[in-house]
Amino acid sequence: MAKKVSKKSKVKKVLPPTPHRAGIKPPKLDAKQIPNHVAIVMDGNGRWAKQRGLARTAGHEAGEKALVDIVHGAIEIGVKELSVYAFSTENWRRSPEEVKFLMGFNRQVIHNRRDELNGLGIKIRWVGREKKLWASVLNELKEAEQLTKNNKVLTLNMCINYGGRAEMLDAAVAIAKDAVRKKIKPDALSEKSISKYLYAPSMSDVDLFLRSSGEQRTSNFLMWQSAYAEMVFMDVLWPDADRRTLWKAIETYAERERRFGKA
Ligand code: FPP
Repeated sequence: MAKKVSKKSKVKKVLPPTPHRAGIKPPKLDAKQIPNHVAIVMDGNGRWAKQRGLARTAGHEAGEKALVDIVHGAIEIGVKELSVYAFSTENWRRSPEEVKFLMGFNRQVIHNRRDELNGLGIKIRWVGREKKLWASVLNELKEAEQLTKNNKVLTLNMCINYGGRAEMLDAAVAIAKDAVRKKIKPDALSEKSISKYLYAPSMSDVDLFLRSSGEQRTSNFLMWQSAYAEMVFMDVLWPDADRRTLWKAIETYAERERRFGKA
């Protein structure tokens, strides 16, 4: 006879985020002042390394800690979706050594961190283009997605080999193919139906778009999804960022008036 499994024992235990090492707590804000989806351009690793006379790759390595701390801080403050730009479709233009490093590093970070992220109840999702992406990185991402697919605390979109224009181009090609096959009627297309052709159809619109390093550009990140995002540019190099950087950006966001085209 099959063993009876009580409902209780089936429920996965979710670990709370680790508090900030100095015991700093998130700012007290109303739930409606907290962005649901935060997109982050983790910029400034190279400059951080240069300032210290180190190789650019050392800056990327130091950036892992910042990302993990921000993930913990995002859960603490109540963000539900976090998208990070870990490798863009344009990053292939960097030196072969740096590209090789970044691919291997992404693979390693996903592999080494997936159990910690899973324990926190995080759903890992890869967002990007398959063409050119290293198969070993893709495999690692698929494994992490499978492991974490039922998690509900926060969705972490790992944007690897991602570009906003590439995403729109790939969507346009798929739409055109479906139109030729008479699967869709061009006149019936809507903004909602276009979203279904994007890399992650269930991704929500970006509320807060955060970029570190003082640069004020979006660099082709989540162009469609960030149409009405609030932009916050922080003057900190990515390896020096931590959850306080995110919380400060959220405080700025909370002061903004979002009108979405209304008067
Ligand atoms: C931008 O800094 C950073 C990247 C292109 C890499 C993405 C971030 C990381 C590798 C850190 C987190 C780790 C993972 C795997 C998510 P840059 O190199 O453009 O810096 P610069 O503008 O100072 O040259």
